[in-house]
Amino acid sequence: MSSPANQVYPVIWHNNSALLIDQTRLPGEYTFVEIHRSEDMAQAIKTMIVRGAPAIGVAAAYGMYLGSREIDTTNRDRFLEHLEQVAQTLRSTRPTAVNLFWAISRMMKTAYETLGTVAEIKQALLKTAQTINSEDLQTCQAIGDYGLEVLPKTKEKLTLLTHCNAGALATAGYGTALGVVRSAFRQGRLARLFADETRPRLQGAKLTAWECVQEGIPVTVITDSMAAHCMQQGLIDAVVVGADRIAANGDTANKIGTYSLAIIAKAHNIPFFVAAPLSTVDFSLPDGSKIPIEERNPEEIYKVGDTILTPEGVEFYNPAFDVTPANLITAIITENGAFAATDLAKSQAQQVA
Ligand code: MRU
Repeated sequence: MSSPANQVYPVIWHNNSALLIDQTRLPGEYTFVEIHRSEDMAQAIKTMIVRGAPAIGVAAAYGMYLGSREIDTTNRDRFLEHLEQVAQTLRSTRPTAVNLFWAISRMMKTAYETLGTVAEIKQALLKTAQTINSEDLQTCQAIGDYGLEVLPKTKEKLTLLTHCNAGALATAGYGTALGVVRSAFRQGRLARLFADETRPRLQGAKLTAWECVQEGIPVTVITDSMAAHCMQQGLIDAVVVGADRIAANGDTANKIGTYSLAIIAKAHNIPFFVAAPLSTVDFSLPDGSKIPIEERNPEEIYKVGDTILTPEGVEFYNPAFDVTPANLITAIITENGAFAATDLAKSQAQQVA
């Protein structure tokens, strides 16, 4: 498939299978992987062919449907038992992004609540997966709109800084943090985006930069360690990042390096925004201390291509996420509006209304 004009959908349902943009090959190659089985979807999530909290949720939802198709029984109870196993395999792929667990729970709820034959349950599962996908797209657009409302009004055109990739590639399309950037760009309010390269997997340098190029958004890639200097130089008006899991008190897990970014933003009096759908909020966790943090293969730190960077005999620690305390966050931008981190419960009330 050729490169997109500017619409990027990381998960597409096509011809009875899921097509995933292979995010491990961007920006060099824009290719799709065709997924027919839930096991392959689990593997694609684990290996980060598809990544980013909401996109993982969408992919897992389709994974659940694909898994349901493989269950060869007309007995409802046996079917549900097997579907629980499919859910378990998908849940075991990545621990931090709560959207994964949220989407799987929603799919299981559909299965349990659909009365009728197993064939009817399977159809209902496909419908729910497609709904999760389309809802996320609308959610991101709403986040973009609300983000515009809270961005500083000090200047007409702002320079924003982001970390990792919370763009179309990380969602059903459009993006959360990059959705806010996109909306600002489309409304003539963006001067430039600074994108942290985001060690060790370089989602900023590879994916955020690629998305910006697709849409003509002016982007400057910096290494993570340059952000403080850029702030000190007065180059940054606001920071906008995504989230993988937000606790009830607003503490936010996001890509490793987000916490230090929040600290330096505070030190320079620069607003620090988290943009995320409410499906990323885990109201069962009172604070961020219990958010499970994924540890990934140390190879991500010491190997670039075939080159080993470090001497033999050293140890590595490779946490993929960190937790930013709520008091460093200016506002959390959701599809229901922007809230002070301490007011997140209000966002839920509004969602129910
Ligand atoms: O390890 P990744 O690439 O899945 O991590 C992605 C992030 O940390 C994103 O910022 C987060 O998932 C929000 S995506 C809208």
